[in-house]
Amino acid sequence: MKKWRRICIGATLAAFCGFLFSPHRGYTHEPITTNVRFNKEIIRIFERNCLGCHAPGQIKADIPLGTYPEARPWAKAIKEEILEKRMPPYQAVKGYGHFQRDYGLTQREIDLIVSWVEGGAPKGDDKDLPNRDSSDDSWMLGKPDLVLQPQDETKVGAEMDETRCFPLPSGLKEDRWVSGIEFRPGDGTVVHDATVIVVPSDKAATACKPGTGESAAERLAYWAPGTEPVKFPAGVARALPAGSTLALRISYRGAGEDTNDRSRVALFFSKENPTRQLHGVTVNAPAVTVPAAIEDFRVKASYVLAAPAAAVGVRPLLYPLAASVEVSAHRPDGTIEVLAWVKHRRWPWEPAFLMKNPVPLPKGTRLEITAYINNSADNPGNPHDPPKAVRLNGALCDLYFAAE
Ligand code: HEC
Repeated sequence: MKKWRRICIGATLAAFCGFLFSPHRGYTHEPITTNVRFNKEIIRIFERNCLGCHAPGQIKADIPLGTYPEARPWAKAIKEEILEKRMPPYQAVKGYGHFQRDYGLTQREIDLIVSWVEGGAPKGDDKDLPNRDSSDDSWMLGKPDLVLQPQDETKVGAEMDETRCFPLPSGLKEDRWVSGIEFRPGDGTVVHDATVIVVPSDKAATACKPGTGESAAERLAYWAPGTEPVKFPAGVARALPAGSTLALRISYRGAGEDTNDRSRVALFFSKENPTRQLHGVTVNAPAVTVPAAIEDFRVKASYVLAAPAAAVGVRPLLYPLAASVEVSAHRPDGTIEVLAWVKHRRWPWEPAFLMKNPVPLPKGTRLEITAYINNSADNPGNPHDPPKAVRLNGALCDLYFAAE
């Protein structure tokens, strides 16, 4: 309801501003006082951080930002969204942990966008536009070893809001080591997120049974719009036993008209046997009740390493009440390192943050997860209006390790 209202206001605004700022008016009422240009700096920032969602064919196709005429009417809203840290919708706080891809804008990128908006949002020269080869449909990680997809297309109704699961038999005769996974939605306007689960051959018949894929040990990958394909660090891979089936679980959100989806999963295998096997651990929240209307309620849980391991990634969960989740490593020598602090999530997307370099941790290290819960009406993700006391006991965070 809220969402639709916003979209309607947005659309009306876009139409109205589109008129106001239409090229015929020449934007003369706003003096240009900046050197930052859309076609030069801004489009490059948007490509990396926004167009995975805000482009035709993607989940926020109704607010496209990929060209100057599309983005210009939204300039003021863009400034507000990024200063309030509401966009992009999932972000790691800068300065904590180093990731392959730390979703979120750097301070310099924020400064550039703000200067652009405040300086009259000029277009710049078309010759500065980045080269985009839109015809290139190849996989980002190269040539896959195996591509799996559901047998048939799925009809996605205009108003659909549900999760579907598709069993995808791998057909593998031998054990394999997965070093990368890439997901490609069939119709990106309706695929809200997707999870790939490994199901051993003896459970293949019930691969999509509810309850499967509840732990990080079973989940192979999670995709959200705008995320990059999963690539494990060199020498690290995840076992995919012969005969296993992948369960592909997709959350669909109808985009206002009926459409069809047939998404694909590409797997990349490591050529050699990896030296280090990747494994996932799900740490659950303690069973506690969060009082209604409380703004800062902390929930902690920890996991102690029984053997040395390297932290490869973290995936904070516990949406929608968690305003932020922090993961820190407490080494036996007393040193503490914050591995990640993930904040500012606006819609229930829960991507993993993979480390740039695995962080070696000795045996006995305690991984501590702190969720900062905001159960007040100020939390836009709060499903209860007015807020209600909520009993927590679900998954708090997935941790990914490579054996040392
Ligand atoms: C993962 C997908 C995703 C990414 C990446 C993303 N957005 Fe959004 N954006 C959304 C969604 C979903 C909404 C609607 C939010 C809602 O209704 O609560 C939205 C809404 C907006 C709005 C309209 C806000 C309003 O309601 O007035 C603006 C402006 C915006 N985004 C700008 C950006 C910019 C700029 C970036 C990149 C820095 C970005 N977004 C990145 C998904 C995304």
